[in-house]
Amino acid sequence: MISKSDDTNNSSSESLGSMERAVMQDEQVQDVHAQLMREKEEPVEGFSPVPIVLMFFFAALCFWGGVYLVEHSGGYRWDAYSPDFDPTADAPKPVEISLFDRGAKIYRNQCAQCHQASGNGVAGVYPPLVASSWVTGHPEVVARILINGLNGPMIVNGKSYNGNMPAFGPGGLGLKEKDIAGVITYIRQEWGNAAPEMSEQMIAEYSSKYNSRSTPWSSNELKQDLGPIPEAVPTDDNTLDAEETAEL
Ligand code: HEC
Repeated sequence: MISKSDDTNNSSSESLGSMERAVMQDEQVQDVHAQLMREKEEPVEGFSPVPIVLMFFFAALCFWGGVYLVEHSGGYRWDAYSPDFDPTADAPKPVEISLFDRGAKIYRNQCAQCHQASGNGVAGVYPPLVASSWVTGHPEVVARILINGLNGPMIVNGKSYNGNMPAFGPGGLGLKEKDIAGVITYIRQEWGNAAPEMSEQMIAEYSSKYNSRSTPWSSNELKQDLGPIPEAVPTDDNTLDAEETAEL
């Protein structure tokens, strides 16, 4: 019995112990909860998309920024910050290059392989353009050569040549009238040559006369039936020479 009561005693003291332990555990649990409340939840892997409203907001912001830039940038003009800037004034017109400068380019691309960049040609094969009276003489002569080409024997600066000069008019390599006028102006005024320019109007006139001709000229024909030299026609207002262009 005693042993039994002992048992009971024992068990009651045991259950008391577990009660105390349970209380202890409650306190611990509350501690843990307090910690959790303080420290927020554990981060987890994953993503959260940008809210769609925010995307629209940014798109609208970019659009507005673009519109603002365009409207307030003074047309991206370099002088927009000058105190004299007048946004309502027309932007300066693009400057057209002179016939001579245009001709220099054409010459490099179309003629220099034969007549050389120096204009001296190749002895016995390609005649010189420097100091050649065919170049600097009557403008109709050189216009004929360029529009229809030239072949057969000829004498340039006292030396004889007998080759083929291709046509550059519509029946040949098809340069524009402006380009033909330019290249003729160039060879008449470069390397110390000093003949008047070949205006676009002059070449237009010669083209209407000779475009339909299908055979190249011979040197004998070149100086026959020349018309009167057209009076120097003033160049277009917007055609400036190199110096004027540099001043702008
Ligand atoms: C494929 C080579 C070749 C090309 C390219 C060429 N020429 Fe010629 N050129 C000749 C030859 C060859 C002659 C001489 C023709 C002859 O003997 O009858 C000549 C003659 C001339 C003459 C008359 C003779 C003289 O020396 O004054 C002029 C002007 C002339 N060329 C200008 C030009 C111009 C301008 C260009 C470019 C648009 C050009 N040539 C492109 C070969 C060429």
